[in-house]
This record gives sequence, structure tokens and C-alpha cells, in this order.
Amino acid sequence: MIGTPLSANATKVMLLGSGELGKEVIIALQRLGVEVIAVDRYEHAPGHQVAHHAYAIDMTDADALKTLVSQVKPHYIVPEIEALNTQALAEIEATGVTVVPTVRAVQLTMNREGIRRLAAEELNLPTSPYAFARSEAELQAAIDGGIGYPCFIKPTMSSSGKGQSRITRASEVKAAWEYAASAGRVNQGVVIVEGQIDFDYEITLLTVRAKNAAGEIETHFCAPIGHVQKQGDYVESWQPQAMDALALKNAQDIAKKVTDALGGQGLFGVELFVKGEQVWFSEVSPRPHDTGMVTMCTQRLNEFELHARAILGLPVDVTQRETGASAVIYGGADTKTLAYHGLEAAMSVPNSEIRLFGKPESFVRRRMGVALATADNTDLARARAKEAAGLVTPKVAG
Ligand SMILES: Nc1ncnc2c1ncn2[C@@H]1O[C@H](COP(=O)(O)OP(=O)(O)OP(=O)(O)O)[C@@H](O)[C@H]1O
Ligand SMILES: [Mg+2]
Repeated sequence: MIGTPLSANATKVMLLGSGELGKEVIIALQRLGVEVIAVDRYEHAPGHQVAHHAYAIDMTDADALKTLVSQVKPHYIVPEIEALNTQALAEIEATGVTVVPTVRAVQLTMNREGIRRLAAEELNLPTSPYAFARSEAELQAAIDGGIGYPCFIKPTMSSSGKGQSRITRASEVKAAWEYAASAGRVNQGVVIVEGQIDFDYEITLLTVRAKNAAGEIETHFCAPIGHVQKQGDYVESWQPQAMDALALKNAQDIAKKVTDALGGQGLFGVELFVKGEQVWFSEVSPRPHDTGMVTMCTQRLNEFELHARAILGLPVDVTQRETGASAVIYGGADTKTLAYHGLEAAMSVPNSEIRLFGKPESFVRRRMGVALATADNTDLARARAKEAAGLVTPKVAG
């Protein structure tokens, strides 16, 4: 059942975080006649521009969150970002509001320590070797004690590669510790060090927990998405990633175990490393994944529509229709008046689409848009998406 928006029986969904991924979730909800409340830390966020109601608050502030929720009275709260006050969310969940997928899942996945211990120590899933360190000395000891080089050092509370480094020798430990300790979000000073997995390729396996028509939760897997990461941030993705049949089965088994353990309803982005038939769990987002933007041109229902349906208790269909790719468009400048030139040329690339997020402020390395393209094969789709993205030339206006 979905009510009438802006009326007494509206079905109300509140997005916590309204960036480019939240914006697409909102559009999917809008298409179903859901009343949407978009929340972000700053005004005119991408999702604010397409929602019924828009608020700018500090979402790490428990009182600000609780006050807004009691005023707006949403039926569902959909976190799009990790930097949230989860204690407040737990109190809100206890009053009967559904937090997607669950507050526990949000808590576990926002902290690399929570999700890594769940995956490796409780579920016994294969992961990179890892250790947690609370000082530079502990970090050095963990590396010397078996993690070795090369290794990755990451703040336990961070995303999009912030504070992350890959090091190859002892002389780099100090700088990596300082970088991680300074960039972490909430609990500064706890880092994870991971041994490097020598993978052939990495994937995001979009996994959906949704009710079927009989009301039972079923798990669905989208076709695997391959991607390229630079400095911890994705620059290119494509679907499908060709995979050995056994590797795909292993990937789905891992994704099923992790998402079963996290529970709730919604779409998850399970990040996995693959070498031959072998698969390692890396991390998981309990929400649409940036690399999954490619599904906007490949699937019958994109990852945002799947998330929306799953949240609302509606059946899903993960069918892939076309082979496609996405390529990121960066701002290239620090400005509040970015102008996007070259769109005529970009949109002339066959089978391509350009999405501009409408972010009010650009930074050199801020993701401002994405190019999507389809083709008969992923190589051509990737070439087209990259070509289209490269033809968009952002310039500072004036
Ligand atoms: N142990 C590892 N072995 C090999 N590669 C790794 C390892 N850890 C991280 N990487 C590489 O760095 C990328 C980013 O790491 P991770 O996903 O943990 O960070 P993140 O900050 O959450 O990034 P994002 O938010 O973009 O997912 C991975 O996708 C992978 O390419
Ligand atoms: Mg990641």
C-alpha cells in the first residue's frame, strides 16, 4: 500500500544524505507517489532539488535528528551516508520507524571494525589479513607481526578513500598513520591495516533483500559490476563483469551470508576481490553503491528503483537488459559557479547519456556527474562512457 503524497495518509520516506545517490532514490520514490523528505548537511544538495521537503541539519547531532523526525513523522528513514548519529537512530527505530535496512546494519557497516569482525570472525568469510591499531607503534607491530608489505592503512570510520594509503616499506608507516588518524570521522585514531590482495579484478555485487508476493524475504543478485578505483574513489564501472562460474557462485554465497547477517530490506553493494575462482570479501554498503550508477543504463530497474521497491516491501526484478558502463565527471575546479561545456559533443557519443548532479559547489576532485553508455560489449561501452565523460568540460563561469 502506498498513500497519497502531501495528504494525511501519505507514505513518507526521509533520506538522510541527499547526494547523487540519494537523489536517484528520491526520483524512484517520487515515481511511486511516495512523499519524500530530503535531509543533508548543506542546502541545495542534489536530492533537495527533487524532494517534496528539504532540510539542512547536522545529522551527527542527536537532538537535531530526533527533533526533525518527530516533526516530519516519516514511516521510513533511508540513510545515504555513513556519518550519522546512530544512537539517535536506534532510539527512533525503537519508536516504530523503519530505518533501512536496520540500525544495526548501519552501525556495523559505518565502522570498518564492525563489519570486518562480523565478516571474518563470525561468518568466517575470506578477507585480506588485517589488524586494528590505536597508535603508530601498534601499527608498525601489526605490519611486522604478519601483515607485511604492501599494505593498506585506512581510518576505521571513513569512506571514498579518505585518509587511506597503500604503503610498501617501513619508512612510510609514520605518514600513513598520521594521514589516517587525521582523516577519520568520529573515532579518530583507530585504523585498520590490511594486507594487499593480489586480485585479478574487483566487483560490486548488488544484492537485494526484498519481499516476494507471499511476503517472504528473498535475496536477488544483480549481474556483477566491474570497476576501477583511483585513490579509493571509483572512476569507471561496467556491467556485467565477465566471471568464472565458480567465482560468481562464491561471490553470491559471500554476499548472501553478509546480507543475511545484516538483515532488513533493501539493496546492498557488496565489494569483493576476485582471483581465478577465489573471492575475498572487502566491504559492504547497506544502500545503493556509487559503482552501481551504471545500472541506470543497463537494468530494467536500476539500483535506486530496486532499493525503493525493497524498502516499501514490494517485489523486485534484477534483470539486466543491456551491457553498459559509467565514467565519472569531476569538477576540475573549486567554485560555486561551475558551467558544463561540451555537452553537445558528449551527447553525440552513440548510446550515451550524461547525468549532472547539480551540486552547488565544485571541487577539483568532487564527483559532479557521470557519463553512461551502452554497447554490445563492455570494452566498447567503457570506451564510449569515458569518451563522453571526457568531452564534458567544466569551466568556472564568469
Ligand atoms: N586489502 C586490499 N587489497 C587490495 N586492494 C585493496 C585493499 N583494500 C583496498 N583496496 C583497494 O582500494 C579500494 C578502496 O578501498 P575500500 O573500499 O576499503 O575504501 P573506501 O574508502 O570504502 O572506498 P569506497 O568508498 O570508494 O568504496 C578498493 O576498492 C581496492 O581497489
Ligand atoms: Mg570501497
